[in-house]
Amino acid sequence: SNSRRGLQTSTAQASDIAFAFDIDGVLLRSSKPIPGAADALRTLQDRGIPFILLTNGGGKHETERVAEIGQKLQIDLDPSVIIQSHSPFAGLVHGAFGQEALENKCILVAGGDGDGCRQVAEKYGFKSVVTPGDLFNAYPGIWPFSKVFKDYYKTFARPLPKPIDPSDPSNSLKIDAMFVFNDPRDWGLDAQVIVDILLSSQGIIGTISDKNGKSDLPNRGYQQDGQPPLYFSNPDLWWAASYHLPRLGQGGFREALEGIWAAVTGGPAQDVELIKTVVGKPYTLTYRFAENQLLRNRARILNSSSLPPVRKVFMVGDNPESDIRGANSYKSEHGSDWHSILVRTGVYNGGQPSCPPKTIVDDSTQAILSVSIRRR
Ligand code: G3P
Ligand code: MG
Repeated sequence: SNSRRGLQTSTAQASDIAFAFDIDGVLLRSSKPIPGAADALRTLQDRGIPFILLTNGGGKHETERVAEIGQKLQIDLDPSVIIQSHSPFAGLVHGAFGQEALENKCILVAGGDGDGCRQVAEKYGFKSVVTPGDLFNAYPGIWPFSKVFKDYYKTFARPLPKPIDPSDPSNSLKIDAMFVFNDPRDWGLDAQVIVDILLSSQGIIGTISDKNGKSDLPNRGYQQDGQPPLYFSNPDLWWAASYHLPRLGQGGFREALEGIWAAVTGGPAQDVELIKTVVGKPYTLTYRFAENQLLRNRARILNSSSLPPVRKVFMVGDNPESDIRGANSYKSEHGSDWHSILVRTGVYNGGQPSCPPKTIVDDSTQAILSVSIRRR
């Protein structure tokens, strides 16, 4: 039934509060459930309190990820309950956040295991998706050091839609947008390919814009020449995996790439508006996307569009720099106040958090108990 699917059924008095749960470090450590996580979600289901799972993780389609989490926590979850780092990118198929429709354009998608992220992008509706593995498989010289991973790339690489042929740019592979959907596994290959495209002429792989590198140019040597934008999806420098210490996240890859960029062009990546770090917690775009999905779910399940507004959303997270900072700074257009709750089961493990939450508790069970939930 819907009530068991993490969303509330029609109750006489719709709850005017809701929860947003982070996943890594709050519900799971890698794929191991954190004690109390399942009970916390079940309590909300039983009391008809809507919630979403808001994660900077990704790499699989939302339906697949929710099925996995539901299985691990032994709880029935609706696929619409999750927002992953790359979920907002689905809107770019038909044009979103000021970007042209990319449905029929050729995009590069980096990160994740194998071509899992390509499959996510294709399920979103992108029709022409290339991965760094495709490029390496077709032109191993593009990154000499990935020869050791040759057999891995062979398992999922696809033929390129066009060759890399700088002598015939009009027939050479042109990339119209680049995305990092999840943590790259081969930072070297992915960084090389992304820098190649950012320095190219018009996004045509294998070319170098004749404008780049001239010291009299703005941005100390970098001049845009029709290159495509690069969208990161998750700024996390650290995240809580199965190891007892936090691990470098996609934000670590971004820092590495931006270090290469500064050395190559002499100017900081922040000067280049093509490099976009606007998606993922703590950024407003992701919180607005998440709140709209939460409200749509609530209206659909309650089968009504005239519900009392959600007065408070309790954001339960483990990373002060993403979960807490994002909730504290989010200004809802629907009038809901986002109340940040920091748990001790993930990245944060004591001391003065870098971004102060409204509440600090031990774990997700205490997070629920810290909110006076009137029994419906
Ligand atoms: O790659 C996932 C990691 O960055 C953190 O994910 O669920 O804690 O937002 P999460
Ligand atoms: Mg987390």
